[in-house]
Amino acid sequence: MFYSIWHGKIQTMRETSYNIRPMIEADIAEISEIDKEAFPGESIFRPFSSFKSDINNSSVHYSVAYSNEPEILRTEEIKSRKISWFKRLWQHRKSESSELKSTDLVTEGHIIGFVGLWIMLDEAHITALATRNNYRRQGIGEALLISAIETSISLGSQMITLEVRISNAIAQALYLKYGFIIVGKRIRYYSDNNEDALLMSIESTNSVNFKSQFRKLKEADSHF
Ligand SMILES: CC(C)(COP(=O)(O)OP(=O)(O)OC[C@H]1O[C@@H](n2cnc3c(N)ncnc32)[C@H](O)[C@@H]1OP(=O)(O)O)[C@@H](O)C(=O)NCCC(=O)NCCS
Repeated sequence: MFYSIWHGKIQTMRETSYNIRPMIEADIAEISEIDKEAFPGESIFRPFSSFKSDINNSSVHYSVAYSNEPEILRTEEIKSRKISWFKRLWQHRKSESSELKSTDLVTEGHIIGFVGLWIMLDEAHITALATRNNYRRQGIGEALLISAIETSISLGSQMITLEVRISNAIAQALYLKYGFIIVGKRIRYYSDNNEDALLMSIESTNSVNFKSQFRKLKEADSHF
C-alpha cells in the first residue's frame, strides 16, 4: 500500500483510494455520523458542537481518511446514517440521469474514518479512532493510527495514551500491534453499560524498540 500522512494517495487491498488529512469544518457532519455508527453508546458525549469547538482548540487534532470515489447509498443506509434533507435534495440531482433508483443517493466523495488526538505537554491522548462500518479491514484504521502517532511525535509527545473498552478485542489487537501496552484499568468508565476501560500506552516514543517496531510496520504497509 502506498502511504503518505497528509496528502498522499493511499491504495488499499480493496482498491479504495483515500487521503489522510487534517479535519476541516465541512467534514464535521460526516465525522459525526461515523462517530454515532462506531460508538453508539458514547456519542451523546461528543455532540456536533464539540467537534466544531475542537477545530479552534490548538491542543486537539483530528485527521480524516477521505475517499474521492463515489458511493451509492441505498434507502437503508440513508436512514441509518440520518442523512439530512438538504444533502438528499442536493445529491439526488446528481443521480437523475443514471439508472439508479430514485431513492438512491450518489456521493461524490466522503469521509471513511477519523482519529482524534489531544496533546498535553509531552503526552498525546487518542480520544477517538473509527473506520466506517463498510470500509473496515482495509488498513484504514491502521493508517489513521500511524498518522496519529506521527502527529504526536511531530508535536513533541513522548507518551501516547488511550482508553479502550475491555470487550473491544479488535481495537486492542490494533493497539498491541503498534506497541501500546496495558498499563491500567478504569472501572465502570463507560456510562452507557458501566463497562471497564483498559488504559493503554506507548510509554516512550523515543525508545529504540518502539522506533524500530514503528518503522517496520510502516514499511510493511507500503507493500500493499
Ligand atoms: C478499531 C477500528 C478503527 C479498526 O479499523 P479497521 O480499518 O477495520 O482496521 P484495519 O483494517 O486497519 O486493521 C488493523 C489491525 O486492527 C486489528 N483488527 C482489525 N479488524 C479486526 C478483526 N475483525 N479481528 C481482529 N483484529 C482486527 C488487527 O490487528 C489489524 O491488523 P492485521 O490486519 O495485521 O490483522 C474499527 O474496527 C472501528 O472503527 N471500530 C469501532 C470503533 C472503535 O472501536 N474504535 C476504537 C476505540 S478505542
